[in-house]
Amino acid sequence: MDSTFPIIIQGGMGAAVSDWRLANAVSRLGQLGVVSGTALDQVFARRLQDGDPGGHMRRGLHYFPFPQMAQRVWNAWFIPDGKRPGQPYKRPLMFTKDGPREVQELCMVANFVEVYLAREGHGYPVGINYLEKVQLPHLPSMYGAMLAGVAYVLMGAGIPVKIPGVLDCLALHGRATYPLQVTGAQDGDDTTMTFEPREFMERDLAPLVRPRFLAIIASNTLALTMLKRANGKVDGFVIEGPTAGGHNAPPRGKQPLSESGEPVYGERDRVDLEKLRELGVPFWLAGGYGSPEKLREALAAGAAGIQVGTVFAFCTESGLTAEYKQTILEGVVAGEARVMTDPVASPTNFPFKVVRVAGSTSEADVYSARPRICDLGYLREAYRTGEGTIGYRCSAEPVTTYVAKGGKPETTAGRKCLCNGLMANIGHPQVRNGYVEHGLVTSGNDLNALAPFLPAGGCIYSAADVVNKLMSGPESPREPRLSA
Ligand SMILES: Cc1cc2nc3c(=O)[nH]c(=O)nc-3n(C[C@H](O)[C@H](O)[C@H](O)COP(=O)(O)O)c2cc1C
Repeated sequence: MDSTFPIIIQGGMGAAVSDWRLANAVSRLGQLGVVSGTALDQVFARRLQDGDPGGHMRRGLHYFPFPQMAQRVWNAWFIPDGKRPGQPYKRPLMFTKDGPREVQELCMVANFVEVYLAREGHGYPVGINYLEKVQLPHLPSMYGAMLAGVAYVLMGAGIPVKIPGVLDCLALHGRATYPLQVTGAQDGDDTTMTFEPREFMERDLAPLVRPRFLAIIASNTLALTMLKRANGKVDGFVIEGPTAGGHNAPPRGKQPLSESGEPVYGERDRVDLEKLRELGVPFWLAGGYGSPEKLREALAAGAAGIQVGTVFAFCTESGLTAEYKQTILEGVVAGEARVMTDPVASPTNFPFKVVRVAGSTSEADVYSARPRICDLGYLREAYRTGEGTIGYRCSAEPVTTYVAKGGKPETTAGRKCLCNGLMANIGHPQVRNGYVEHGLVTSGNDLNALAPFLPAGGCIYSAADVVNKLMSGPESPREPRLSA
């Protein structure tokens, strides 16, 4: 095994749960810290509108290689001392297939700063995570992250066969393209997104490091597909099981839901590790692997290591609000924490794990009191309109709007606005006419497995506590081994 691979990958957790602070804390310990790249343009714009507490965004912006662009973004979003409480956040325009340019710039800058800050003060690698389904921001996002020297790009929630080639092009500041999935597209429709770095560069730059690419997948078939069809090198796989936090791959085959309304996973969803090993590509196991015992088990099965999310999501350095951490960890201490795999909450149509928290949209009363609105739009589906153009719709938007765009009414049932919920989780809730958005927290199935990480009588632990515990035990795995 290549000794420069990490043993522990701190999984990407959107939006900004795995922010620059968490990734920095993990990477400086010699494991792989991964920032979430999801909706970073929005997160960045809100941090600036909150007055950039601590001046971190400003510091990162200072190192962005194109100063005029950095200045434009700063001027557009920064509010000295922050917006007034109760004042709504100003929103960037929503992405479309061809831009708009101001959002591409914001996206590039935001991805740069997140990675820059995650790398600050140590010489270890840092990764960034994207969801394949959130396609519109892909190209400017990856370019921004690469300008900051991101070492790994990890991508799940889709089949990212065209990402390796994008990374190859962007490393040379070359034109990159990506096929936008458009429902109902016909032969001859232009569905290709194009990004030309030279239209944005203010000066020439040396070629960038091409990051390693890890595909996050849940089946042997997908591993094979990636290796056969990818348009460039796939450097490894994260094999994520159905107990993992965040989105999950749907079960294979048509299974009825369980009594509690959750998807049921079976033998067909089990990944054959023996077969996977035969592919000769490094892999990490994810989904309930956050313990020293499971780490040893993964290594014994031939994995390069593990990817862990849930245990990191509730540590001091994560972006979740202190209130959510405390409430949920108190539930863990009491042995009462509950997680549900919701088959319909996410407009992506993938099952999504939801922690039951009073006052969040996991609860029916909070959900039904929320006026349906789609004003961030990251999970919108692109579709072919009657005129042959590309339209965008989200199954969590107002039903009449969705149906007017040709969406099926039944698809809207139980859908939740993840975009606004995830912003509220990290302390940037939108306010509209006095209504304040509530969070929607996700975690892996076994939240109660967090208990061993909590100090006696307390709920506060650090990323270093997690890494040290995972690496502890009688047959401690190899020392952290990422090279600086
Ligand atoms: C709060 C949270 C948010 C997550 N968001 C993402 C995400 O944006 N992209 C992704 O690929 N995986 C996401 N995940 C999955 C993690 O990266 C990781 O694979 C998973 O948590 C591992 O399983 P575990 O939760 O049992 O440790 C998320 C997990 C959590 C707990």
